[in-house]
Order: sequence, then C-alpha cells, then structure tokens
Amino acid sequence: MSKLWGGRFSQGPARALEELNASISFDLRLAPYDLAGSKAHARVLHRAGLLTEPELEQMLTALDELREAVDKDAFPVSLSDEDVHTALERGLVEKLGALGGKLRAGRSRNDQIACDLRMYCRDHARAVAVGLVDLVEALTGQARRTADAPVPGMTHLQHAQPITFGHQLLAHVQGFLRDLDRLSDWDRRTSVSPLGSGALAGSSLPLDPVAVAAELGFDAPAANSIDGVADRDFAAELLFVTAMIGVHLSRLGEEVVLWTSQEFGWVELDDAFATGSSIMPQKKNPDIAELARGKAGRFIGDLTGLLVTLKALPFAYNKDLQEDKEPVFDALDHLKLLLPAMAGMIATMTIHTERMAEAAPLGFSLATEIADWLVRDGVPFRDAHEITGAVVAFCQENGRELHEVTDGELASISPLLRPSVRDVLTVDGALAGRRTPGSTGPGPVADQLATVDAAIPQW
Ligand code: ARG
Repeated sequence: MSKLWGGRFSQGPARALEELNASISFDLRLAPYDLAGSKAHARVLHRAGLLTEPELEQMLTALDELREAVDKDAFPVSLSDEDVHTALERGLVEKLGALGGKLRAGRSRNDQIACDLRMYCRDHARAVAVGLVDLVEALTGQARRTADAPVPGMTHLQHAQPITFGHQLLAHVQGFLRDLDRLSDWDRRTSVSPLGSGALAGSSLPLDPVAVAAELGFDAPAANSIDGVADRDFAAELLFVTAMIGVHLSRLGEEVVLWTSQEFGWVELDDAFATGSSIMPQKKNPDIAELARGKAGRFIGDLTGLLVTLKALPFAYNKDLQEDKEPVFDALDHLKLLLPAMAGMIATMTIHTERMAEAAPLGFSLATEIADWLVRDGVPFRDAHEITGAVVAFCQENGRELHEVTDGELASISPLLRPSVRDVLTVDGALAGRRTPGSTGPGPVADQLATVDAAIPQW
C-alpha cells in the first residue's frame, strides 16, 4: 500500500474519502521544491549518521531522476498517491526499495508542505516582480513621450484641472512601485524555512535546520516548530499583494477602457493588443483592459478565501490548510498572464495628444487658475472661490468658455478681475505654474521620470 499512514488501519480508504482528501491533482507543481527539500534533508541525515555515503549518493541520484521525470511530464500519478509527498516517496521506493523509506526520518508532510509552498511563492513572486517591472517600463516610456501633453485631469470623472498625460501615467507607476516594494519586503519576511519543525514538535534526531534553510535559500529556520508548520501568513500576505496589484491593474484597465472609448478618443490600442467583434466589423475592443478589471475580483476572492480558511484554525497543522494552495496558484497564474498583456498593451498604444489637448481646457477646468490669481492679489480664497464661481455661472448662462469672457464682462462680475487675469487662462500657463515637487508641471514630471529607475527595488 502506497499510503504514508497505512500501518494502524485494517482496510484501505473509502473512495469518497480518497477523492475528497487528495491534493495530488493540484499540488504536483510543488514537486521541484519538494525534491530540493528532500536532497537537503538527505544530506543532513547522512551527516547525522543515518545514511551511509553510498546510500546518500543513491538517494541523490534517484531524487535527480525523479526531478527529470517530473520536468518531462513523465512521472505519472494517480488518486491513490494522495499528495505530492506521497507520490514522490512512492517514486523513490520504486527506484531504491527499502532505502527509499529512510528519507522520511525526522520529517513530516506538515513541515514539507509548508516549506514547498514557501519556496513556490518566493520563486513566483519574483516572476510577478519581473512582470511588474516590464509594466512600469512600458508606462514610463509612454509617460516620457507625453510628459508635456495636456489632458483634462479628473475628479468624480468630471474635468477638474489640466494635467499632463505623463503625470497621470506616472501616478499609476507609483502604485506599481509600491507593489514591488511590498514584494521585496514580503520576501524578506518569508525567508524562513519550516523544515526541522517535523509534525509540530521538532525532531529528536540530530538534524540541522540551519544548514537545510541555507541550502534552500532561506535566511533561517523557523524559530518555533508549531509556527513553522501552522503559519500561512506568508501566503495570505502574498495574496494581499497580488490583490493590491490586481486592484491597481483594474484602475489602469478602467482608464484604458475610458480612454479608448469613442467619447474620449484619447488612445487607440495596437491591433495586436485589441480584439474584434464576431458581428460588428468595425469594433475594436479593449479586452485586456477589461480582463484586468475583471480579474481583480478573483484576486480579491483568493485573498478572502484564504483568510477565511485560516480564521480560528487551532494550532498546529489541520487538513483545512490543504485549501491554502489553490488560491495561491490561481492568483499567481492569472497575474502572470495579465502582466505581460497589460505591459504590451500600454507600450504599443497610440496616444492622441491633439485630441487630449483640445479637451484639456473644457469644462471650465481653468477656473482654479482665476481663484489662485485672485489669491496672489491678496483676495481671501473663500472670496476668490465665490467670484470665480460667478464667472463660471456667467459662462454657463451665455454658452462661453472662460477665456471668451470680455474684459468688460469680467469687470462687471467683480472689479477685482483685472484684464491681466487672462494671462492665467491658458492650459500651458496653468501647467507651467505647477512647479512644486510632485506637481503636474514639466519640471516636477521630469524629476519623477528621473527617479523611477532608482525606485525599482532590487532583491
Ligand atoms: N496535502 C497536504 C496539504 O496540502 C499535505 C500535508 C498533509 N499532512 C497531514 N498531516 N495529513 O496540506
């Protein structure tokens, strides 16, 4: 019998139990990490005098062969294997006979699975970071090209104040830079090896968790064996980061949907990054951006699902923890699909700067400039706001834009509105005037562009 726990049972498991209990259908992807852990453990057993030199050599060779078979998709598994650890021990015993059964000494599936999942997460978080950097570079490239391209800046999706399109793109970059920082910070905390924790109480065998941790790329072994097997903070935290990235992507995606609409017409997607309609030949749809919006739901669901699984779970290991893997795999799989598509879409989109520039002053978006001009003249902002509001109301009643109001009309609205107020009623003037750090003016935007590369965390 291939089960790891058959000894005390008088009969095999019911089919219904086997089907429910098995995780092999989704945890085989952890095999490379499980095998790396097994190699480290075999070396430690040898150093402890529990494996002879030839036994160690045979063991390491067999583990390498299993890795090769797994990589080539040539390691068949079945339901009765239960999980990746059972399957690989079966494979080892098939190769080595009784010797294969020696590797389990001092180890439990509880510390194994916690270790495998950590290693998987650390590897794949790096792949996510690479995808994020590509997206940051795509956004930054477009921001560089549109650093001085005026566009309506919006609040409540209404024209608010003119900004540059580059500034808007760099706002998205800031969020992704924080995500990169979150990932490297998360990795530092996740660099703890559960191996040596055993089932929950550590081991009575002379193991070397420090050496195992180092061999597997961890900074240290778990400080507490119960925490070593029961902690899934690392998975939940990673799912928070993937959910946050998903939310950031959804906000960018939503803006792309708006920008590419007929009504905005600010952006056109490259043919390679847009889709068509089966019935309407004219359609060009922003499917990538919509999937970015849509997938945020699953990333948030993955995080929520795992947190609910962990809630109130007593120490140490409980089978509930088997439910930790699918949300992690789901989030990482989908993010790794989404990021390259988003980066490609952003890098190749055409930005219609002339159309954006036409829209920039519409909706009285320069009204704040009048108020600020009055403030510079010594008028309290409260009064400046009132007076400017009266100018806007006048424009609305008379179907005019702000710069179309005559000197006489301005003076009749308020004697404080001297003709030189006109000087600030241009988009370029409004943009150029925004010079303080972080503002949308050309100077601060150039400063932001200069700092993006340095802000990408290396780890
Ligand atoms: N498949 C299990 C999981 O994913 C591995 C650990 C099983 N441990 C146990 N004591 N049954 O959590």
